[in-house]
Amino acid sequence: MSEDTDMSGDPGAQRAARRDRAVRAAVEQGLLGPGTPIVGLLDVTGIRESAAALRSAFEAVTAPGTPVLHAFAVKASPLVPVLRLLHEAGIGAEVASPGELALARAAGVPAGRTVLDSPAKTPDELREALALGIALNADNPQELERLDGLVSRGASASPLGIRVNPQVGGGSIEALSTATATSKFGVALRDEGAREWVVRAYLDRPWLTRLHAHTGSQGIPLALMAEGVREAYALAEEINERAGRRQVDTLDIGGGLPVNFASEETAPTYAAYARVLSETVPGLFDGRYGLVTEFGRSLLAKHGTVVARVEYAKSAGGRPVAVTHAGVQVATRTVYAPQAWPLRIAAYDGKGLPKTGPDVVQDVAGPACFAGDLLAVGRAMPLLAQGDYAAALDTGAYYFAHHYAYNSLARPAVYGFAGGGDGGVVFAPVRRAQAVEEIVAEAGGEYGDSLTVAFRRDDAGAL
Ligand SMILES: Cc1ncc(COP(=O)(O)O)c(C=O)c1O
Repeated sequence: MSEDTDMSGDPGAQRAARRDRAVRAAVEQGLLGPGTPIVGLLDVTGIRESAAALRSAFEAVTAPGTPVLHAFAVKASPLVPVLRLLHEAGIGAEVASPGELALARAAGVPAGRTVLDSPAKTPDELREALALGIALNADNPQELERLDGLVSRGASASPLGIRVNPQVGGGSIEALSTATATSKFGVALRDEGAREWVVRAYLDRPWLTRLHAHTGSQGIPLALMAEGVREAYALAEEINERAGRRQVDTLDIGGGLPVNFASEETAPTYAAYARVLSETVPGLFDGRYGLVTEFGRSLLAKHGTVVARVEYAKSAGGRPVAVTHAGVQVATRTVYAPQAWPLRIAAYDGKGLPKTGPDVVQDVAGPACFAGDLLAVGRAMPLLAQGDYAAALDTGAYYFAHHYAYNSLARPAVYGFAGGGDGGVVFAPVRRAQAVEEIVAEAGGEYGDSLTVAFRRDDAGAL
């Protein structure tokens, strides 16, 4: 890809051109170099475009005036400036832990635009959400029982619902398939007696006004996602009919739009999914139900790049191996499950310019001390040399924002980038690189002698 701005009008090519310019500028501006050999980059323009595409895709199919909250799944990119950027672009937050809730609040996402969904909420977490007025979905009968107790003790502005598992089946990645028969999430709707239990739960609790289903993430075909939504819709209709009123007024249809990691193309698009939904569940958009969505990966993945310096280029058994600074600590899923999570790798030279030259089959390795720490195996691409840069593409969600502290490798800095007024690239900090002092502190540094002092060799009792 040329470093120049792509004029073709193809959004994927434009994104690639922006990325190329950002990598070059990161080297020129000293964000990347021998002393800072790894960095995460986020394309602010691209993130804004995806947020706008999501909103307009649903606007195109919903009846005018329908309340729609797009709540970004914070787990996909738990970075405060990113949440703030999305909030400004009209996107709320779906949170699934006290930490994620704190991040959303730190980003200024209001309670009314936040949804809490975790499967293991403690009584304190439930209390906090209710006190703040955050929407939440009970995962199971025991959690609903807790809510009963809390709701009876005081009014809350929180819209409340139940999460169901429509049990429509899984996709190509078992670990991300939330609607299998035995998934741990929600009330398993097709289990014996479960549907009737859910309906009764609503009839007995007039304050239950929402219904939630998230059918899965990467690897779930659109048709299956839509089937999960259709099941939730049919259940809401049944509840409302038996209640004789529109008790369920909002459907939370989850996230999960898959991302294309194989090329620059954004596919499927939000518009395509909205079309499939409107064909499969026409009543969903007729204005009788407010809607909540919880997309994560599809909003961020293609706008992130982790760029790492090639520290050494060597050869083993006849195969070239580029040893870089990006491995399991920033691409955990790819390293441990390479078949499910292949990543494209782009090669840049020491100045940050795209490398050209014949394709050479090579491995791209990370810095961690185990043999499987590989970003790519047997990949045909221009030969990486010492001092070059390898960029792992489409890593804006669930990758460099999700540090895995193997070998106590430091969290890399993350910067957002956009074009400056003078045509150059401007970077803004999103997250500092982790200092080694922080690694020591987070590894119990303050308790350095606690085990040896508390359990002196001579007087430690035997258990
Ligand atoms: C309840 C819920 N909503 C939304 C998401 C986001 O999924 P994705 O990032 O695939 O859009 C997840 C992912 O695990 C989830 O569990």
